[in-house]
Amino acid sequence: MTSPFPQTGPRPPVLHVEARLAPQCSVRYEIMRDHIRAFLISTMTSITCFQTVDTMRQSEDELVRTFVEHVRIGECSGYGSILRDRPTNNISRAGSIEARRERDVRKSGIDRRDDRDKRKTSSYNTAADTTMSSSSQQHHDDDDVDPEQKTGQESTNNVRGQLWDDEENARSFVTRDVELSIHVYQLQRQGAVEEYGDFGSGDMDEPVMMAHHWTLPCEELEGVWDSLVFEDRLEVKLLEYVYTTILFSDRNVNPHLVSWNRVVLLHGPPGTGKTSLCRGLAQTLGIRLSRRFHFTKLLEINCHSLFSKWFSESGKLVHRMFDQIWRMVDDDDTFVCVLIDEVESLAAARKAALSGNEPSDSIRVVNALLTQIDRLKRRKNVLVLTTSNITEAIDIAFIDRADIKMYIGLPPPKAIYTILCSSLNELGRAGIIHAKHPLPERKDIWSISTYNNPENALLISQVMDLQRISELAQGMSGRAMRKLPFLAHANHLQVSVSTMDAFLTALFLTVQEEQECNAQLKEERS
Ligand SMILES: Nc1ncnc2c1ncn2[C@@H]1O[C@H](COP(=O)(O)OP(=O)(O)O)[C@@H](O)[C@H]1O
Ligand SMILES: [Mg+2]
Repeated sequence: MTSPFPQTGPRPPVLHVEARLAPQCSVRYEIMRDHIRAFLISTMTSITCFQTVDTMRQSEDELVRTFVEHVRIGECSGYGSILRDRPTNNISRAGSIEARRERDVRKSGIDRRDDRDKRKTSSYNTAADTTMSSSSQQHHDDDDVDPEQKTGQESTNNVRGQLWDDEENARSFVTRDVELSIHVYQLQRQGAVEEYGDFGSGDMDEPVMMAHHWTLPCEELEGVWDSLVFEDRLEVKLLEYVYTTILFSDRNVNPHLVSWNRVVLLHGPPGTGKTSLCRGLAQTLGIRLSRRFHFTKLLEINCHSLFSKWFSESGKLVHRMFDQIWRMVDDDDTFVCVLIDEVESLAAARKAALSGNEPSDSIRVVNALLTQIDRLKRRKNVLVLTTSNITEAIDIAFIDRADIKMYIGLPPPKAIYTILCSSLNELGRAGIIHAKHPLPERKDIWSISTYNNPENALLISQVMDLQRISELAQGMSGRAMRKLPFLAHANHLQVSVSTMDAFLTALFLTVQEEQECNAQLKEERS
């Protein structure tokens, strides 16, 4: 008897690789893909998720050297969230904590596990300490290793022990054990195109800007996805959600038996990256789905402009806008992401209508929007992304429709560290901070050895300073965080080049000032 299920069998985990080609490259993507694959396999025996490959310039391959601008390793799928932390037989984890621990034990002859546990406790003790201090103040535990080795290696380990344990990010795979899914792309030059709604009957003074749209992947949104830092890799969960919608549609799963709406809702305080995450997701889909869809478009609807002025005319605007969306969606070769930003204004409009402050047809307008969203779910090539800054004010109709409802909160200190670290390294790249080495991201801290290396000892002490700043900055949004280095420079430095240490001190003072300001504002409000 034949099975009703397709018999494809288990596949190896798939590691996604995104390779951006230079605008002038006219070589076919399939050819470039083969070259990049050969280059990666020949130069890298192990591959780490979320890593940038920067050795292209040294590539011996003429095409790679000339045309590949950027290679980024993404997440590993088929090794999904549920399975991620379980041991699997067919995956060799080259850089895993277990492998490293084993190597350490073999090298030093001691089990550092107990040691690490002790250090973790001490890191909690220092977590509340918000004063800047140098790494040399750490005290050392005694053990029976060679004293000469001890001074160097142990102090490094002790210092690291004060840092966050960040093993989950250091996920590496032996290159030949994973299937490399290489997504080759080139960027569109054109940025956002504005969509205006005019009624053609002269009944409005000025046309209303209803939406923006982008053809993806585009220059304007390049880098947005990578710049966002969230705990638990929630951006990867979003990608996995989209892959599932595409798989279910492609396999013609009966929607009466298994249903999904193609609607995602991100909610949480302002400035936490919700809008950027939606835009970045659309851009990444533009890169990742290019073999499946010829084009990817992002259409961003501005609820504020749609529902604030001329509310009674909004019905017409909604229809006009969806006429346009339907025109895009009708092309099976185009994947369309519709972003409805700040849906709380929609809920506010509905509430106002119910309390009699708005024209009576307003409920019909909101319902028209919801009906259109419901109709869209029958299409295979569409995704509706919604965001809200006020969790309590989200229209229940949206909550009902969303397949995924994600709360995006204020970043915790670990994420703050990564955000500030990337900002400081950008100033290093721009020559505003003079530093020999970039500050290590959290996942790289473990590979720094201070043994006989005073430069690295300095780096570790800077890492610890930034860690303290990150703890002090708790409660601030990602948006506020991205401004801090600018304010630090404007308020405390005002020199064209400063050292990393001076910048860190300025940053520390700025965070203190900002927090004082925030506390004052809070007090005034209450
Ligand atoms: N988690 C984060 N990681 C990195 N940057 C962030 C984060 N959250 C916010 N930002 C920064 O704040 C800016 C504004 O974010 P935005 O997407 O408009 O937030 P929201 O839509 O939640 O109000 C972004 O461009 C980004 O630079
Ligand atoms: Mg927003």
